[in-house]
Amino acid sequence: MDLISSCDGKRIIDVGAGTTTLVDSLIANEYEVTVLDISSEALRVLSKRHGHNLKYIHGDLSNSLDLGDFDIWHDRAVLHFLLKESEKEAYVVNLESCISSGGYAVIETFSNDGAKVCCGLDLQTYDENMLIDLLGENWILIDSIRHTHINPFGGERPYISTIFKRI
Ligand SMILES: C[S@@+](CC[C@H](N)C(=O)[O-])C[C@H]1O[C@@H](n2cnc3c(N)ncnc32)[C@H](O)[C@@H]1O
Repeated sequence: MDLISSCDGKRIIDVGAGTTTLVDSLIANEYEVTVLDISSEALRVLSKRHGHNLKYIHGDLSNSLDLGDFDIWHDRAVLHFLLKESEKEAYVVNLESCISSGGYAVIETFSNDGAKVCCGLDLQTYDENMLIDLLGENWILIDSIRHTHINPFGGERPYISTIFKRI
């Protein structure tokens, strides 16, 4: 919430939302929230919790999607599951399709000093420069934080959390 509230605007899309409780805080802080996930089960759980207070998109970020317009893109822990170049390119195309100049991308991934596998799936870990290279020249990095998340099983998961602004 600290990262998101430092960005201008209230229209936010949380991609790879899972069943995150972040959306509870976003709603409480009067954000207009859209959640996107490849998992219909995750969306079902969120829908049971929040009903019409959220908008729901069932989609795969590695395909081209019709998302609408937002001020803020938030991703915690989905980009790092996209391994093929074509998937990462589609991610950026989707991002740029819904965030225009002056908008923000808050992207949080496993950092490259951390685990290379999560839930049995291989990961692409990142540092600041890798994210700068991925997003390309339309974006500037305005903040970056390293921190360690303790997962529900007690494991340490070093993260990098970044805020990019679209030029
Ligand atoms: C590790 S969970 C993170 C959930 C939530 N953001 C959080 O921080 O608790 C990753 C989520 O990304 C979703 N996901 C994985 N690949 C995806 C894709 N290609 N497109 C959209 N969502 C995807 C999964 O279904 C899952 O809900």
